[in-house]
Amino acid sequence: MSMVGQAVHILQAGGVVAFPTETVYGLGADARNPDALRKIFAAKQRPIDHPLIVHLANVDQLSDWAREIPPVAFALAEAFWPGPLTLILKKAPGVSDLVTGHQDTVGLRIPRHPVAQALLRAMGGGIAAPSANRFGRISPTTAQAVREELGDAVDWVLEGGECEVGLESTILDLSGEAPVILRPGMLDVKQIEAVLGQALRQASQDSPRVSGSLESHYAPQTKLTLVNSDDLVSYVKSIMDKPIAVLTRSSFPIQHPNVYIVSMPVDATHYAHDLYRVLRDLDKKNLQQILVEEVPNNSEWAAIQDRLKRASR
Ligand code: TXA
Ligand code: MG
Repeated sequence: MSMVGQAVHILQAGGVVAFPTETVYGLGADARNPDALRKIFAAKQRPIDHPLIVHLANVDQLSDWAREIPPVAFALAEAFWPGPLTLILKKAPGVSDLVTGHQDTVGLRIPRHPVAQALLRAMGGGIAAPSANRFGRISPTTAQAVREELGDAVDWVLEGGECEVGLESTILDLSGEAPVILRPGMLDVKQIEAVLGQALRQASQDSPRVSGSLESHYAPQTKLTLVNSDDLVSYVKSIMDKPIAVLTRSSFPIQHPNVYIVSMPVDATHYAHDLYRVLRDLDKKNLQQILVEEVPNNSEWAAIQDRLKRASR
């Protein structure tokens, strides 16, 4: 049996399978099987009331999961699916409370990674999948990272190389009066606004149960601190009696055995692609602290800035 065939077999038997998407690796289970869904929460040690995204093979499946779908959802699907966009819609009857977190809405996405597509087509139905990390930690962007995170808690890991995007999907809530971004992703807000024909609001800090909006989310174990470019050198000098790492986007004037310098890409697309892998690697080095040079404050960098702010303390 092919790898994908094997994975479908496990999913249909109520198991959990990690699989690659273009954003990050997901931890999948049959979205119609409550016992399988519970295994996701157990494996991740994730609070049971946090809703899951249901991944679909094609747009025809939308009405199996959502009701009162606004026309704009189809326009967005046409423009961005398959791809790194999650739509929050009013849920169809019968969607499990384990998927929705007891809300009246459901998160839906059609990923474009070829392995995810093959898996979803072969499965026929929806696959519920959060990122394949333990709760509160960095999302995995390689199969190896999934194995390190979840070990025996996952029945099967589908190999799909390094994730193309590297950060989680943009979440757009279409269930209310006006569309709202609940989580920025690498899909530029301006592109979404062009399809919507209107400007978008960011979610207020206390809005719905998006676990990504918890403060200490997407964090490495090592203390991470965001530092203004102008203050970076003096900050490094003040703490380099211990081993530290510095993520910079420019050349860095200090050479010191305690200072591990990571030259990050200067463009947002490549920076996003590398970020979680870099942080995961640094987390293994027993460093005192990771300093990250602040990134530009514009829409291209919004998702990166969002994740760095959540990771920093
Ligand atoms: O890129 C991604 O979105 C990845 C890949 C695997 O698709 N998935 C992912 O899932 O990041 P997760 O569970 O780690 O993050 C999804 C976020 C969570 O913060 C969850 O609370 C939110 O989506 N979410 C899911 N359904 C929702 C709903 N009905 N209303 C509000 N937020 C929802
Ligand atoms: Mg996650």
